[in-house]
Amino acid sequence: MTFEKHILCIGAGYVGGPTMAMIAFKCPQYKVTVVDINPERIAQWNSDTLPIYEPGLDEIVKARRGKNLFFSTEVEQRIQECEVIFVSVNTPTKTFGAGAGMAADLQYWDKTARQIRKCAQSNKIIVEKSTLPVKTAQAMKRILTCEDNGIRFDVLSNPEFLAEGTAIRDLEDPDRVLIGSTLTPNGIRARDVLVEIYANWVPRDRIVTSNIWSSELSKLVANAFLAQRISSINSISALCEKADADIEEVARAVGMDRRVGNRFLNASVGFGGSCFRKDILNLVYLCRYYDLKEVADYWEGVVRINDYQKERFILKMLDALFNTLADKKVCLFGFAFKADTGDTRESPAVFVASRLIEERATVVITDPKALKNAMKDLAGVAGDVSYVEDPYAASEGCSAIAVMTEWRIFSTLDYERIYRAMAKPAFIFDGRNILDHQRLFEIGFNVFPIGKPSLTHF
Ligand code: UDX
Ligand code: UDX
Repeated sequence: MTFEKHILCIGAGYVGGPTMAMIAFKCPQYKVTVVDINPERIAQWNSDTLPIYEPGLDEIVKARRGKNLFFSTEVEQRIQECEVIFVSVNTPTKTFGAGAGMAADLQYWDKTARQIRKCAQSNKIIVEKSTLPVKTAQAMKRILTCEDNGIRFDVLSNPEFLAEGTAIRDLEDPDRVLIGSTLTPNGIRARDVLVEIYANWVPRDRIVTSNIWSSELSKLVANAFLAQRISSINSISALCEKADADIEEVARAVGMDRRVGNRFLNASVGFGGSCFRKDILNLVYLCRYYDLKEVADYWEGVVRINDYQKERFILKMLDALFNTLADKKVCLFGFAFKADTGDTRESPAVFVASRLIEERATVVITDPKALKNAMKDLAGVAGDVSYVEDPYAASEGCSAIAVMTEWRIFSTLDYERIYRAMAKPAFIFDGRNILDHQRLFEIGFNVFPIGKPSLTHF
């Protein structure tokens, strides 16, 4: 079969994998290949057990794999045969040198640009999927065109707005697809090629185009705004606990104002995920670079409140458990950074587990999808940690349960049975406000929600 277009994606991660699977699913006329330098990851994409858990992903990969969707480690050969190349390699926060802890580490992205230049034998459209500091598209263009070998490279910015756990739905029915390009005739021609690809299933009025820097900046700002809502509500949760108000009642009343809206107002132990912290710190770094101290401080406050919320959670546990956690068994219900994913990057549970270990507690972790990642995250932490799939077995003999992830299963458990098997007095810290607190209190638990008065038997 001959294909209308050959599309490549470099980086088979949480973003590259699902995005390409969706393009292949919606566009059988295109051949879509995903490459990665990690052969293990590619082997998993080609197996029955995909490297990431995402509802609906298995079905679309199985429907298209081997037909017009391919996973491969042959990066160089594939660069040669594809005219549209998405770059979706990871850009973690830098851990060394200038901007450590804030700026994005662009080494993988830089190497990828050089590799494309080395292998390309015909004109290419390069699509940035990775979240990058503003103006990196320009840097990409410079790396690509520094040797005048007669090949044209057009660089587009096409930031990803999918959220984990709902990635397939977000890809299938996005609020918007954003495409940034230079506004030269060549830039616009390249942009239109990408518009055509998405137009196979996304209504045209939801495909938004802009200049390349607006597009890059919009991704950082969208995530900063979302995270800011969570830090705002979390800051008020601290006040509610002192003032005997109820954060859910406050959030409901505030969110009913249509100008505010009701989403992303759930108070929690803190936000996690690979993007929020990293993107805000990128924004802060950018503002500092341009000497905008007040703006930088403002957005940095969103991250500071998140750190405060996580630490507050630990201090509340410590205080409730009579100021010592040493040798007490604490069970974490959930380790993923949110429900419906096995991803634990920046999960508040990583922080909470590490702090509990510092306090010399014995930690038991249960999670329906994230135990493998939890083991990796805590591999370097010396302490008494165990991983138990069954929440009933996990909580047995524990003094406290701390809900870290809003998995539905946790609200459907038999808490009378759990209570009977726990050490007394028994405590529940609901870091997601998903449980029936009054009912738990009646069973005998001492209950500590977020942003609501605690219910204790003392
Ligand atoms: C993506 C984006 O890249 C990131 O910038 C954004 O903010 C979040 O989403 P994600 O897909 O979650 O990252 O990253 P990850 O799951 O780590 O996947 C990146 C993949 O790129 C890895 O499989 C890695 O092996 C691969 N990679 C990395 C390459 O193929 N080549 C490299 O040079 C570096
Ligand atoms: C986010 C953005 O939503 C997405 O558009 C972007 O492309 C990538 O970053 P993701 O990190 O997958 O997606 O998850 P998201 O649903 O945004 O949740 C982030 C964190 O905030 C999670 O830890 C979640 O539990 C927490 N959260 C979310 C709250 O604590 N309260 C809320 O009301 C909503």
